[in-house]
Amino acid sequence: PAARPLAGRHALVTSGPTHEPIDPVRYIANRSSGKQGHAIAAALAALGARVTLVSGPVAQPDPPGVTVVRIETAREMLAACEGALPADIAVMAAAVADWRVAREAGQKLKKEPGAEAPSLMMTLNPDILATLSHHAQRPGLVVGFAAETEKVVEHAIAKRRRKGCDWIVANDVSGTVMGGDANTVHLITAAGVEDWPELPKGAVAERLAARIAAALA
Ligand code: C5P
Repeated sequence: PAARPLAGRHALVTSGPTHEPIDPVRYIANRSSGKQGHAIAAALAALGARVTLVSGPVAQPDPPGVTVVRIETAREMLAACEGALPADIAVMAAAVADWRVAREAGQKLKKEPGAEAPSLMMTLNPDILATLSHHAQRPGLVVGFAAETEKVVEHAIAKRRRKGCDWIVANDVSGTVMGGDANTVHLITAAGVEDWPELPKGAVAERLAARIAAALA
């Protein structure tokens, strides 16, 4: 096999959490570290792909040889992804916030003496994976992630159909996966389910990149 089997291909990868503002100083976020998504971007680049990595706020260094677009919110992530098309491959590893605060306050919410705590009205964020899966410029291979805490494979199979993507990488996040260095995943394709052993996130990324290269060959 060629050393750079993805040469000439463009891969779009999302990584990290999104931050959804409440007011100018507060936001809603999640525990995603960006380790898995950044490792996938690096692994695809190592196989010769031109990689655009759209990342939420993370402490990870930019992977070498990768174009990194930094965003904060889900809506910014969607715009950056659409702006990066066309792509041959899309791997959506970001932990996108499902909801955002419906109306971001223009000024810092004040804690007035004796006043009750504010209630936040939420609204749905766009689903980037589903949007790209049904896009006029849909990448040839669209890979989503499924972070589940129960019935991991069952939920992931349903998610693959619902989102319209080609593959789902499913992982059980009830333990220390988020922020940790190891991952135990199941690869869900049209052909069925593969159970991968527990691996460092870098090894999961390399294995996934190799599978992607094989699928596109
Ligand atoms: O629906 P759920 O959040 O479990 O789906 C996870 C998959 O969908 C991941 O690939 C994630 O990056 C993607 N996703 C997305 N936009 C959202 C929510 C999830 O791209 N708003």
